[in-house]
Amino acid sequence: MTSQVGVRVRTGARVIARIFAFSFVCALGGACGPTPAKDIGAQLFSDPRTSTSDDNSFACSTCHAVDKDGDAEQNKAGYPLHDTVFRTRFWGGQVTSPLEAMNACLFFFMKSQTFSADEPKSRALYEYLASIASEDAKQTRPLTIVETVTTVPRGNPDQGKDVWDRSCRECHGDPHTGNGRLSDDVVIVPESSEEFARDVDFPVDLVIVEKVRHGNFFKVGGAMPPFAVERLSDEELGAILGYLDAK
Ligand code: HEC
Ligand code: HEC
Repeated sequence: MTSQVGVRVRTGARVIARIFAFSFVCALGGACGPTPAKDIGAQLFSDPRTSTSDDNSFACSTCHAVDKDGDAEQNKAGYPLHDTVFRTRFWGGQVTSPLEAMNACLFFFMKSQTFSADEPKSRALYEYLASIASEDAKQTRPLTIVETVTTVPRGNPDQGKDVWDRSCRECHGDPHTGNGRLSDDVVIVPESSEEFARDVDFPVDLVIVEKVRHGNFFKVGGAMPPFAVERLSDEELGAILGYLDAK
């Protein structure tokens, strides 16, 4: 993987430990209230308005489960964050503080400005993640973002439907119609890729694989997150291709 995240998102590289000092924060409206920071953080975690951009429909919870069985139900692009904050390395090892890790998500996916360590929102999110984390979780999680993509063979459509439902449906809704999609910014798949593939004269499956593996990285635009190999295998991706059956 390139050092994109590490190089471009340095703004939040401060000592996160300072945040420990706070167990209460001022409510976002400015008044200091008795609500524990972790509870405010829990709300922020599932609210798209945590982003500073009006033009964002993703919450942290769109891409991260929080409990340790989170992957059983859905298989989101980001790891479940139940034991994240006490690690020392994030994003596969490229990033060295939870604040920077979160800022990468705010910047790349949520069209937001990044947060400083002192910002009430980052304190509250930290407190929330600390409240659900175990102190002994120190191991860096592997994260392989494929740079050079190749097509994968189309797999079993039934398995593909299952993978789609667990990994893609929350944002895209149904294939072909987009029914139930998160917002109008989320394109209808695979039709949108079919059109693009015709324009650039590329195999349509390759266009889909590239988007899934790169998200908005490697100069592919937009806000979709990349799916690392550890989060979605080539076999699962092939099954999605079989299910989508793009023309
Ligand atoms: C559009 C999807 C998306 C959104 C929204 C998102 N993230 Fe992420 N996040 C990812 C992906 C993909 C990764 C890289 C895989 C991983 O490490 O979990 C990641 C990584 C992280 C990591 C590092 C995890 C680790 O152990 O390496 C943290 C912490 C994190 N995100 C926090 C947040 C917080 C807090 C928010 C909300 C402010 C948020 N993310 C919003 C997709 C997203
Ligand atoms: C967090 C929300 C989110 C998730 C999860 C997500 N996508 Fe997307 N996807 C988007 C958005 C938004 C776009 C529009 C382009 C952009 O903003 O990146 C998009 C675009 C695409 C495109 C590009 C279509 C074109 O015009 O070429 C494809 C293909 C695609 N997604 C497939 C998938 C598949 C397959 C999955 C599941 C493995 C998935 N997406 C999961 C949000 C998401």
